[in-house]
Amino acid sequence: MGAGKSTLGPRVAELLGRPFIDLDRDLEQDLGTTIPEFFERRGETAFRMQEEGHAIAALRLPDPAVIALGGGAVQTPSIRHELRDRAFTVLLEVDAETAWRRSAGSGRPLAQDESEFHALYERRRRLYDEIADAHVHDLDDVLLAAAGVHVHVGALESLGSLVPGDGPVALVSDPHVGGIYGAAAQVALGSRLASVHEVPQGEDAKTAAVAERLWSELRLDRDGVVVALGGGSTTDVAGFVAATYLRSVAWVAAPTTLVGQVDAAIGGKTAIDLPQGKNLVGAFHWPVRAVIDPSTLETLPEDQRLEGMAEVVKTGLLAGEPLWDLPAPQLVQRCAAYKAAVCLRDPADRGDRAVLNLGHTFAHALEAAAGYEGLTHGRAVALGLLAALRLSGRPVDVVEQLLQPKPVRVDRERAWEALRRDKKARRGEVRLVLLSEHGPVVEGRPDAEIRSALDELIAE
Ligand SMILES: NC(=O)c1ccc[n+]([C@@H]2O[C@H](COP(=O)([O-])OP(=O)(O)OC[C@H]3O[C@@H](n4cnc5c(N)ncnc54)[C@H](O)[C@@H]3O)[C@@H](O)[C@H]2O)c1
Repeated sequence: MGAGKSTLGPRVAELLGRPFIDLDRDLEQDLGTTIPEFFERRGETAFRMQEEGHAIAALRLPDPAVIALGGGAVQTPSIRHELRDRAFTVLLEVDAETAWRRSAGSGRPLAQDESEFHALYERRRRLYDEIADAHVHDLDDVLLAAAGVHVHVGALESLGSLVPGDGPVALVSDPHVGGIYGAAAQVALGSRLASVHEVPQGEDAKTAAVAERLWSELRLDRDGVVVALGGGSTTDVAGFVAATYLRSVAWVAAPTTLVGQVDAAIGGKTAIDLPQGKNLVGAFHWPVRAVIDPSTLETLPEDQRLEGMAEVVKTGLLAGEPLWDLPAPQLVQRCAAYKAAVCLRDPADRGDRAVLNLGHTFAHALEAAAGYEGLTHGRAVALGLLAALRLSGRPVDVVEQLLQPKPVRVDRERAWEALRRDKKARRGEVRLVLLSEHGPVVEGRPDAEIRSALDELIAE
C-alpha cells in the first residue's frame, strides 16, 4: 500500500510494450463499487475471494503483462503459488513511514489507524520477501531486474551468489582481464568453479577456432553455467559457446568494459566473426544474469573508455537525457536500463530494437570503406552520430565535445556503396534511425541528403 505501483506500473508496461493491469482498479470496475465500500458492506474475507479470482485469471493470461497487485493479495496462498509459478515478481520497496503518509486519509480500509497499519506492514513484509524475485526502488530497477541485469559497485565480489542455481561454473576471460580480475572472480565463485578458460584479447576471440576450442574444453552438464568475464569480445564468444554447447547451457555476463556494461552484455545477442564479416554466426541467448561492476572501469584504458562513450552518447540521445553527464555507476545503470527495456520489448530484433542503430548505418559504411582497419567502431559511431544529428536537424555539440570525432580518410564511393547495402535498406531505399521530437524514428531520406551527410564525415 502506498508504494507507488499504480504510478510506476503503467510506465514499466509502456517501456516493455506490454499491457498494464491494475488489479484493484479492475476489481472496482467489476464489483461496480469502490474497494472501501465493498469492505464496509461485505468485509475483508469476501473481498479476498473476489481478489483471488481476478488475480489468478490475470496471472494466467496467455500473453505477458505488467500487473500491479493489491498490497494484501499475497496473503492468499493460491495467489502466492501462482506468482511463484508464472510471474517475475518485483517488490517495490517503501518504508512504513512513507507508506503510511501516502495511504492515510486515502479512504483505504486498512489504512485507518497508524499502529495497526505498521503492524500490518510488518506481517506482510515476510510474505513479500518470500515471493519477491527482486527488490526495486524505481523504474530503472524494475527494467534491470526484469532483464536479469545487476549493477553495483563491488558486484564482482558477490559473483558467487549472483550466478543463479548451484551447478558448476566455467569461467572464461582473456589473459589481460583474467590477470586483473580473474583471481577475485575465482574467489567469489568458490567451490562452484569447475574450470577456467582463456580466449585471446579483443576481436581475435570471436573466431570459429576459439569457439571450437571452448566447446571441446568444457566439461559442463546441462545445469552448468558459463561465466564470461571481460569485454564484448569475450562475452560475445562465450555467450555463443553457451548457446550452442549441449544445445545450450546458461551463461552469465560479467562485462568489464564500458561497451560491455552499457551494450554488449545486455539483450542476448551473441556472435563470432567469419572471414566474410563480423558477427555473421551467432544466436540469441539471453544471459541468465549480467553482473555489472562499474568499478572495473577504473583500469580501462582511455581509448577503450572512449569506445564506450560513443554508445553512452547514443543512448542519451535516444533517451532524450544527458546520461553522459552522470558519474560512472549511475551512467552505466541508466544506459543499461535503457537498452534492457528496448531489448525486452523486442527480444528477437524484429522491430523497436532498430533504434539502437542510431548513427550505426553511417558507422558501418565508414568501417567497411576503411576495410575494418584503422577506424575503431566507437570512432565510426561518433561520426555516424554527427550525421544522424545533422539529418535530424539537431545540434552536434555534445558529440563534438565528448567524442571529438575527426573526419576519416576513406574512399567516398566505397563508403556510399556500403551504406546503400545497409541491412535496413528496403526496396533499395536506405532507412535511417533519426531523432524526432517524440523520440527515435526509422525513416528514409532523399539519397542526395544522405550522401551529403556521409561526405561530411570523410576527409578531403
Ligand atoms: N552482443 C552485442 O549486443 C554487442 C554489442 C556491442 C558490441 N559487441 C561486440 O563487442 C566487441 C567489442 O567489445 P569491447 O569494446 O568491450 O572490447 P573487447 O572485449 O574487445 O576488449 C578490448 C580490450 O580491453 C581490455 N579490457 C577489458 N576490460 C578491461 C578492464 N576493465 N581494464 C583493462 N582492460 C580491459 C581487454 O583485455 C581487451 O584488450 C565487438 O566484437 C562487438 O561486436 C557486441
